[in-house]
Amino acid sequence: MTNNLVSRLLVLLLLLAAGAAARAGAPRTDFTRGWLFALTDGVGTESPTLDDSGWRRLDLPHDWSIEGAFSPDNTSGTGGGFLPGGVGWYRKHFNPGSIPAGRHIFVDFDGAYMNSSVYVNGHLLGTRPYGYAPFSYDITPWLMPDSDNVIAVRVDNAETPNTRWYSGCGIYRNVWLREQGDVRLPLWGQHVEPYEVDASSAHMRVATTVENVGKREVRAQIALTLVAPDGQRVAIARRGIEIPAGTSEIITDTLSVATPKLWSTDSPALYRLDTEVTVDGNIVDTYSVTTGLRDIRFDAQRGFFLNGKPMKINGVCLHHDAGALGAVVNRRAIARQLGMMQEMGANAIRVSHNPPAPELLELCDSMGLMVMDESFDMWRKRKTAHDYSRYFNEWHERDLRDLVLRDRNHPSIIMWSIGNEVLEQWSHADADTLTLDQANLLLNFGHGADMLAHADSAMSVNSLLTVKLADMVRALDRSRPVTAGCNEPAPGNHLFRSGALDIIGYNYHDGDFLSVPGNFPGKPFLVTESVSALQTRGYYRMPSDSMFIWPERWDKPFSADTMACSAYDNCHVPWGSTHERTMQLVEDNPFIMGQFVWTGFDYIGEPTPFGWPARSSYFGIVDLAGIPKDVYYMYQSRWRQDVDVLHLFPHWTWTPGQEIDMWAYYNNADEVELYVNGRSQGVRRPESGMYHASWRVTFEPGEVTAVSRRDGREVLRRTIRTAAAPAAVRLTPDRREIGADGRDLSYVLAEIVDADGNLCPDATNLITFAVGGAGRNVGVDNGSQTSVEPFKSDTRHAFHGKVMLIVQNDGRAGDITVTATAGCLKSDTVNILSK
Ligand code: GAL
Repeated sequence: MTNNLVSRLLVLLLLLAAGAAARAGAPRTDFTRGWLFALTDGVGTESPTLDDSGWRRLDLPHDWSIEGAFSPDNTSGTGGGFLPGGVGWYRKHFNPGSIPAGRHIFVDFDGAYMNSSVYVNGHLLGTRPYGYAPFSYDITPWLMPDSDNVIAVRVDNAETPNTRWYSGCGIYRNVWLREQGDVRLPLWGQHVEPYEVDASSAHMRVATTVENVGKREVRAQIALTLVAPDGQRVAIARRGIEIPAGTSEIITDTLSVATPKLWSTDSPALYRLDTEVTVDGNIVDTYSVTTGLRDIRFDAQRGFFLNGKPMKINGVCLHHDAGALGAVVNRRAIARQLGMMQEMGANAIRVSHNPPAPELLELCDSMGLMVMDESFDMWRKRKTAHDYSRYFNEWHERDLRDLVLRDRNHPSIIMWSIGNEVLEQWSHADADTLTLDQANLLLNFGHGADMLAHADSAMSVNSLLTVKLADMVRALDRSRPVTAGCNEPAPGNHLFRSGALDIIGYNYHDGDFLSVPGNFPGKPFLVTESVSALQTRGYYRMPSDSMFIWPERWDKPFSADTMACSAYDNCHVPWGSTHERTMQLVEDNPFIMGQFVWTGFDYIGEPTPFGWPARSSYFGIVDLAGIPKDVYYMYQSRWRQDVDVLHLFPHWTWTPGQEIDMWAYYNNADEVELYVNGRSQGVRRPESGMYHASWRVTFEPGEVTAVSRRDGREVLRRTIRTAAAPAAVRLTPDRREIGADGRDLSYVLAEIVDADGNLCPDATNLITFAVGGAGRNVGVDNGSQTSVEPFKSDTRHAFHGKVMLIVQNDGRAGDITVTATAGCLKSDTVNILSK
């Protein structure tokens, strides 16, 4: 065997060893297993000789906050869901084996919230304040070969609130070990930029950075191979370069593909660019980038185009938590959220308002979801007492640059956002000298013309900062537009006045949409954030044609004894709208590229309009437990023509004689008719701007049925029956087979039903779960925004009849047995196979 072949085989083995963990970039291995954790702080905790034998053993990613108790005394407050912060330490013992000269070992963190300091064998490698930023250290100089080494990480989230939503605490994203030689592609070392893409041909510019940290100049061969979705090698480029010792070179190549398979939301075809670096006939580094070939265009009159076809951006905003899992990154949990959004018809995700987990972008690439990738929720002006504004001056360049470098190869990303509702939209001479609350009130709520920029004056500091940030992004990626989510719609908004935003992005302000073409001639327009309707799954406030605008004003205290918001589309915040209202505006105006609805899922924190004990949001289309609210089907009926939709609600278990508003979301039908115990209650036909049918009917026990018809033929029929007393628990796992990798999940829905299997819509029974075999319970939730029961528990009260249990494989193959009991009700058991 030649040397070359041996080294090729070695690389292949290395890649195989990395297994499922191999991702974009150089091969690397999962470094998340077998860490130690303590919620402690103190001098010497980084020391390799510290006695950590009593520490808790766990696998990362981990979030200690989600394991804590809700309390009004936790300073995280409403934003943080009243969960605890604090300082925590993680330690891991490992033996790197021998470390031959010229090998370098890096540890790559996808994110730790926040202020993480990393030590190896007692040496501080660095501190990273921004909890959403990825970071990496070369740990080689401090490693001891063939012996026990200790990496210790201090995570400091003690000063809260420091964000307006739930952040989680700890090393909540993945950690990797990357081993490379002296001659290598650095982290994020390759930029793959497709251009001139259409059905007949596509090209890509590839800029590859190769560095040589060795002591001698090398002549390296760089080989690029583009692999098509069907596995065929469709383009190659090879070249040799000299790289002097201690320098790096950027090599630019152009690859072309005839009749490419285009990446689209319907068919997210992915190409892979493999790079091999060879020195003296030996492969010294390999690197892989996933890319997609697609054309995006943004037009001020006609909206957004993907591969030449006009398309509305039907998006949702998502925060990063995964309900009962907290901030812990789990690929399956993210895939489930994205899958539910896609099933609803969403084609885009706005990661609000921070750099996302890499897994989310990988999934969006492969699932065909477009992404608005966002960097910051604040710049210099703070929104909460201890937020990122205090690090902005020192860190924003690094954090923004790293976001773009890390993410720019993802085909799913169609635009960058440099900020959300930053207070620099306005200026006021007094703002810097006021208290936080006064400044917030003044800037965010003052909205006086004197706080805006004037067309004839010089650019303000705020406008110059906008230019700086947008230019920084464009210097690293010219292929996508830059925008920001703005809640000041006037052209005098300092961000707009900078001229640096390619896309005008409004948060809310429906009443101003139609002025955009006049105010911003030639600029494409997107509703970067919309709606903010408030809903509690299963709670219906009648009459359904009365609007509940809650709170009256964002800065005024509000209360309502139910602490629940109506799941008819009749409750929203004063700056927001009903779901139907914004839908209509977006549908009816071709110049509006689309919208990102606030939000796809409920999230922990921001329980507007209520305070304690409310601790999670009411804004989601899906509740925190992952159970859709009714309006999910409104979106499905508008955004998906390929499936027939008929969703009838609410339930049919009321007091005899009560007047009940029944609603139906439907599509692909020219009429829908409602029957109560077989008697017609009338036919409804589609009306402009009205995306539901409704009937006011008198309740009588029995059944209610809706029938949708097209051209006189029945399309769908839905029946809901009156529930009798609770008789049983029913378990329904979303997946009956999961991976035996110690990570994979099945979401098991538990419902309280009557003897005939009808859901008991108001049941609150306490359900007890037992998970046996190859799995464990990693969280329970019922979607109630006001429950202060812990997420980590074997019991949970039903909320409107339902509870969600999250079951995780424990690393072994075999059956997982899940049993649910609820007092004297009939219990249920299901099996989930792990393999
Ligand atoms: C927006 C803000 C979001 C969220 C939302 C709630 O103004 O950008 O982060 O707070 O309001 O309605």
